[in-house]
Amino acid sequence: MKKLVVIDACIRGEESRTRRLAEPIIASLSKRYEIKRYDLTEMAIEPLTSRTYADRAAGIVPEWAAEAARTIAEADRILIAAPFWDMSFPAVVKVFFEHVSLFDITFTDNGRSCVGLCKCEKVMLVTTRGMNIPTGDAREQATSYLQALSRLWDLGTVLTVAAWNLDYSTPEELEEKIENATRFGLRLAESF
Ligand SMILES: Cc1cc2nc3c(=O)[nH]c(=O)nc-3n(C[C@H](O)[C@H](O)[C@H](O)COP(=O)(O)O)c2cc1C
Repeated sequence: MKKLVVIDACIRGEESRTRRLAEPIIASLSKRYEIKRYDLTEMAIEPLTSRTYADRAAGIVPEWAAEAARTIAEADRILIAAPFWDMSFPAVVKVFFEHVSLFDITFTDNGRSCVGLCKCEKVMLVTTRGMNIPTGDAREQATSYLQALSRLWDLGTVLTVAAWNLDYSTPEELEEKIENATRFGLRLAESF
């Protein structure tokens, strides 16, 4: 069975609209993929500090990070479920990437530049936004960040499933937006 890595940063847990949108898509993908899930809300990870950076420079990285980097490098697909915070995703997602962006695991260099080592061909970002900011808008810095990371790690195409303007919608409009985005995500999942 092919492998899907799910990175869950739905910090509001059961209250999360993003998780509600993501779960049926993940359930649909679970029929075709073996899933390894990283729940970032439970991992309590911290950005690199001068001490942990010095460790890394000496070749010492946390075992969980090396293991996660290897799992990501071997994954066929990656799905990130993360709400839209401060015009991107929650910082913990970037912190996670910082830890697992490891030389000779997720990327290496060919003497002229960095080249990716990941097997993944498609990444799906599932998100919900409070403001009226569609995917691809200059103010939307989550998809564009993942596209850049995909160029570093060689992750392939980035597809975004989103519902937006949710904080300025009536409860009925909100339901409709989540339902429409779920339908779109389930359709994408069929060929993901
Ligand atoms: C800390 C925080 C920061 C946010 N920043 C933004 C933002 O910059 N732009 C925006 O459109 N919505 C922002 N929102 C609103 C959320 O994107 C929106 O409510 C979303 O649906 C929350 O997803 P969730 O229910 O999965 O947590 C923010 C919400 C929180 C809690």
